Amino acid sequence: MKKILSILTLFALFSATVLADNKPGTFTIGSKTFLLNGEPFVVKAAEIHYPRIPRPYWEHRIQVCKSLGMNAVCIYIFWNIHEQQEGQFNFTDNNDIAEFCRIAQKNGMYVIVRPGPYVCAEWEMGGLPWWLLKKKDIKLRERDPDFMERVKIFEEKVGEQLNPLTIQNGGPIIMMQVENEYGSYGEDKPYVSEIRDCLRGIYGKELELFQCDWSSNFEKNGLDDLTWTMNFGTGANIDQQFRRLGELRPNAPKMCSEFWSGWFDKWGARHETRPAKDMVEGMDEMLSKGISFSLYMTHGGTSFGHWAGANSPGFAPDVTSYDYDAPINEWGLATPKFWELRKMMQKYDERGFPLQGGRKGGLPAVPKAPMPIITVPKFELTEFAPLMSAMTEPVKGNLKTFEEMNMGWGTMMYSTRLPEITSQSELTGEFHDFAQVFIDQKYIGKIDRVKNEKSLTIPAIKKGEDLIIIVEGMGRINFGRAIKDFKGIIGNVTLTTETDDVEMVLTPKNWANVAIPDDYETAKKVLDMVKGVNDRVASGEVKGCVPALALTQGYEGSKKLGDLLKPGYHRGYFNLKKVGDTFLNFETWGKGQVWVNGHAMGRFWSIGPQQTLYVPGCWLKKGQNEVIVLDIVGPRETVVWGQAEPELNKLQLEKSNKHNNIGDKPDLNSATPVATGTFKAGNGWQTVKFNAPQKGRYLAIECLSTQKEGDRVAIAELYLQGADGKRLSREPWKTKYANSEDEAGNNLGDKVFDLQESTYWQTEKGAAAPHLLVIDLGSVQNVTALEYLPRAEQGAPGSIKDFKIYLY
Ligand code: GLA
Ligand code: CA
Repeated sequence: MKKILSILTLFALFSATVLADNKPGTFTIGSKTFLLNGEPFVVKAAEIHYPRIPRPYWEHRIQVCKSLGMNAVCIYIFWNIHEQQEGQFNFTDNNDIAEFCRIAQKNGMYVIVRPGPYVCAEWEMGGLPWWLLKKKDIKLRERDPDFMERVKIFEEKVGEQLNPLTIQNGGPIIMMQVENEYGSYGEDKPYVSEIRDCLRGIYGKELELFQCDWSSNFEKNGLDDLTWTMNFGTGANIDQQFRRLGELRPNAPKMCSEFWSGWFDKWGARHETRPAKDMVEGMDEMLSKGISFSLYMTHGGTSFGHWAGANSPGFAPDVTSYDYDAPINEWGLATPKFWELRKMMQKYDERGFPLQGGRKGGLPAVPKAPMPIITVPKFELTEFAPLMSAMTEPVKGNLKTFEEMNMGWGTMMYSTRLPEITSQSELTGEFHDFAQVFIDQKYIGKIDRVKNEKSLTIPAIKKGEDLIIIVEGMGRINFGRAIKDFKGIIGNVTLTTETDDVEMVLTPKNWANVAIPDDYETAKKVLDMVKGVNDRVASGEVKGCVPALALTQGYEGSKKLGDLLKPGYHRGYFNLKKVGDTFLNFETWGKGQVWVNGHAMGRFWSIGPQQTLYVPGCWLKKGQNEVIVLDIVGPRETVVWGQAEPELNKLQLEKSNKHNNIGDKPDLNSATPVATGTFKAGNGWQTVKFNAPQKGRYLAIECLSTQKEGDRVAIAELYLQGADGKRLSREPWKTKYANSEDEAGNNLGDKVFDLQESTYWQTEKGAAAPHLLVIDLGSVQNVTALEYLPRAEQGAPGSIKDFKIYLY
C-alpha cells in the first residue's frame, strides 16, 4: 500500500511540473513593451509554415529555431489546405495545427497565429480556397456575404483546434493576427473590423490581437483597439520604419511582424539572396531597442504539390522551393547565415533583453538532422501514358474555366473543329496560364502568361481540322487585387485573319472542354491502365491494340499521334538500401509536377532557376520507390537522379530578361521633359507634381546623378497619379527599356512596379550615370504627378538626385 502511494505521489509531482508549463497565463500590452504574465517581454519569433515541412520533421525544425535563440514560432493558417472541398475540413496529419502548437509548447516556444483568412505567403490564392470562385462575382476580402459566411465557418473550425491552446487556456498561443497587410489591398475598416470581431467571438477578448502592414500604409486600416506592427526586410532603415507609429502611438510596443531574411523565387528569374550581415545587424538593432520581431522566414521549407502561388502585376508564379535564403535552409540545416545570427542572439536572454555578463551555457545545442543526405544514381522513367489517356468526359459548348468544370488545379484540353481558313491567322485569348496549341495533332506553339503572351500566329487551316489547346494552370495569384485568378481559358478565343486590309474574326463556339486534374490518383490510374494493356500485349494475350496505349518507350514509335503524345505521365523506380533526404534533378524535363511514393513534390519547369526538387527522406523507403512525372510539355530525356545539394539558380531561358534592346530606346534629344528637378536625400516616398496634366503612353525617367556620388541608381517603386490625383493602376505596365540592370541580383526594371517596397531596379556595378528607365503604361494616360520611393535601406542607397521625367 505504501509503495503504491509513493508511486502516486511521484506521479502527482510529475504531472504538476507538466501542468506548470500549461498554467493559464497572460500576454498583454504595457508601456512600450509587451507583457508576458505581467513582465516585459520582447518577442523573438521564427516564422515557419507547417504545410511546408513534412510532419515528421516539425519538432526538429522547431528545435533548430529554438537553438537560434528564438522564444516563439509564428505560423499562418492556410485555409485552402484545410478546406480543399467546400465544407470538408481536415486538421489531421500534416494539417494538425493543434499538434504543431503542442510540439512548440513542449519545446518551450510560444506561438503567434495568423489565421487569415488571407495570408499571402507565396501560397496558392494567398490561402483562399479556389472554390470561392465558383461564384463568379464574389468579392474576396470584402464584406461580401458569401465570402464572410465561409470565412466565419472556417475560423470557427480553426477555433475548435486552437482555442484550447491560447495562453489564457494554458497553451502557447500569445497573439493572433487580424487579416494580413490589408493596406496593400485596399482601404476597408468595416471589413477588417468584422474579421477582428469574428476572432474575438471565438477566442474571447483576452487574447492579444494585432495587425501587420507597411510603414507607408498601416494607417489606412489601423483599428484603434488593435496593436499595429510593421513589415519590412533585411537592410531596412529601422527607425524610419517605426517613425510614424512612434508619432501616433508613442507608448505602444514596437514589433516587426515580418522581418524578411531573404526573398522568394519566381520561375524564369534568378534565385534571390540577401546579405547575412544586414539581416543580423537589423535584428541586433531591434533587440538593442527592445523591438520585437518575427523573422520571415526563419525556415522557409517547400511549397509541395501545387501550393506555390504567383505574384502580380503581370503573372509571376513562384517556384516550388521556399528556401527564401533563410538562416535554416529548405531542408532544415543551419546555413552560414544561421551561425552568424546565432552568435548575435547569444547576447540576449529568453525574454529578449541584453544579458548582463554573458550567457551561462549558451543557447540550446543545434539538434542533429533527423535524416542523412543521400544521393541516387541516374535512373530512367520507362513507363509512359499520354496526357489524353487521363481525359474525363468532355463537356460540350462554350469555353469553360477550371472553376466552371469544378476543378481546382490541373490541365484542361479544349478542342473545336475549324472551318477552312485560307491564310494564316492570329489566335487570341486569355490563357491561364500556359497554353500549347495544336492543329490536327501538330504542335504549333505556346502562349505563356508569364511572358504576358495572349496570341499566336497559326497557319492556314484545311476544312475539318481540329484546333486543340492544352492549358495548364499554375498557382493562383496571392498578392494584390489580382487574387481573383480564374484558370483555363477566360472568355472567348478568336481567330483573326487579314486579307487585302479586310479583317475577319472567327469566334468558335462549339468546344469540347476536358478536365484533367493534377492528382496522384489520376496519374497512377492511367499509368496502371497503360501498363496493364502493355503487359497483355507483351504476353501475346492481346493482339493489335490502340497505338497510343501500346507506347511505353518515349514517343519515337508514334508517327500517327505525333507531337500530341509528348505531354503525359512517366513512371520509373529507384531502389534504396538506406533512406535519407535527397534532391531529384529534373533539368531534362519540360514542365509539370512530380509525385514520389504518392507524395506530391511540387512543380518543375525547365526555365529554372530551380532544377531540383527536395525529396524528404521521411517519405522514402528501403527498397523500391516510385517516381511519377506529369510533363505537360515533354522531356528531352526521361532520366532523373538524386543529388546531395539542390540546384536553385540555373536558368535555361530562350532569351535574357534584360530590357536593353536598343531599338526600344527612345530618342529624347528633342523631347521636352514634363518635369525636371532634384529629389531630397533619405528614405520614404516623394511626389513630383507636374505643372500641368500630361498625356502619354510611355514614361521615361532619366536619372542624371545620385545622392551619393558614384552610387548605382536604384528605384524601389514608382506610381503615377491620374487627373483625379489618384494612383493609376499599374496592372498593364511593362518595362520597355533600361540602359542598365543588375540581372544577377534580380534587380530588373519591373521591380519598380511589382508592388513590393523592398525590391528595386538597380543599375550594374560601375555603369556611369545618366541612366534611363522607360515604362510602357499599356495605353495613353493622363498624368499629373509621379511618386518615387528609393530603397528602404539606411541611407537610401542608390537614391536619385537630379532627374528628368518624360511622357510620350
Ligand atoms: C508579405 C506577406 C507575406 C509574404 C511576404 C513576402 O509581407 O505578408 O505573406 O508574402 O510579403 O514573402
Ligand atoms: Ca519594388
